Amino acid sequence: MSLLHPNPLRLGVNIDHVATIRNARGGDHPDPVRAAEIVAQCGGDGITAHLREDRRHIRDEDLARIQAATNLPLNLEMAATPEMLQIALRHKPHAACIVPEKREERTTEGGLDAAGLHNTLVPIIDELKTAGIRVSLFIEASERQLDAALRLGAPVVEFHTGEYAHAILDGDSDRTEKELRRIADMAALAAKNGIEPHAGHGLTYDNVQPIAAIPQIAELNIGHYLVGEAVFVGLEPAVLKMRELMDEAR
Ligand code: PXP
Repeated sequence: MSLLHPNPLRLGVNIDHVATIRNARGGDHPDPVRAAEIVAQCGGDGITAHLREDRRHIRDEDLARIQAATNLPLNLEMAATPEMLQIALRHKPHAACIVPEKREERTTEGGLDAAGLHNTLVPIIDELKTAGIRVSLFIEASERQLDAALRLGAPVVEFHTGEYAHAILDGDSDRTEKELRRIADMAALAAKNGIEPHAGHGLTYDNVQPIAAIPQIAELNIGHYLVGEAVFVGLEPAVLKMRELMDEAR
């Protein structure tokens, strides 16, 4: 990162929905690997991919292909299950972000209950950390969940920005302000306790800047909106524009 950015903010691009489009026709086009290559060429900082239990977008074989295609760090989003743990240990991504997962949900609808799932998470986090994988927990920005992440020894948390994004869509400025404050406060508390805060979910050109302006946040993971924009303008211009908006806000 350049000296102009003493507090760099990384952009991880979630390429799941390139695979969603591919899978709609059952063939091999569009290939999420090509998306990963474009992200690498245009200065994205990482690739994020969620191997869901139902394999509705990214599939097992995509992971190795994505890892082979670029030198960018891979952030594997995964449910806290024995199957996903084994897959993570086999592929050894740079990072593993543990997310809640329900089969019937359209997307990851809420944060992980790191507090309630403490005993399930302890061995999974231990094994991931022993394998040298940077563990992140996708949680709501709350003190209860942050405390749990701290007790679990997670080096990273990713704050779920879905409620913030919804509040903006609803035109509710009080709720938007409240959500933003909650994320900013928890990001500061995380950093103070040695946890690196990230954020993601539902981020767009229109709502990214207040989140990008939170100085402790080190990484944003953005997917659906970028892939949607890519349909109209191409993936590279979409990523570059998001990057520009993030830098402008910093
Ligand atoms: N971060 C995490 C942990 C996620 O689960 C998702 C959605 O898969 C994202 C970021 C990206 O969200 P979106 O696709 O809404 O940009």
